[in-house]
Amino acid sequence: MAPKITFVDPDGTARNVEVPAGRSVMQGAVAGGVDGIVGECGGNAMCATCHVYVAEEWRDRLAEPAMVEQEMLEFTACERTEASRLSCQITVTEEFDGLVVELPESQL
Ligand code: FES
Repeated sequence: MAPKITFVDPDGTARNVEVPAGRSVMQGAVAGGVDGIVGECGGNAMCATCHVYVAEEWRDRLAEPAMVEQEMLEFTACERTEASRLSCQITVTEEFDGLVVELPESQL
């Protein structure tokens, strides 16, 4: 069974989506019909419309963002925080079962 990722809307509504290992969190969200993720550039770290806030207990378990992601995080529609990541740059592995990410109010 594919790892389940939980997407939490700004109003607190949570949705679990199975995302096969090897896909990005953004791809999983788009395939799973999660409205709060746009993914305009197709996952190339060039649009920042896949911005998510990673739940605190998961932040240390993800690889550090690469420079290209760091730079694009300057252009998120909603405030960038220390929890901010581009979901297209997070590749799902089996260990990510249970990952929780919160969605920003807006991506555009
Ligand atoms: S989909 Fe464009 S930066 Fe992630």
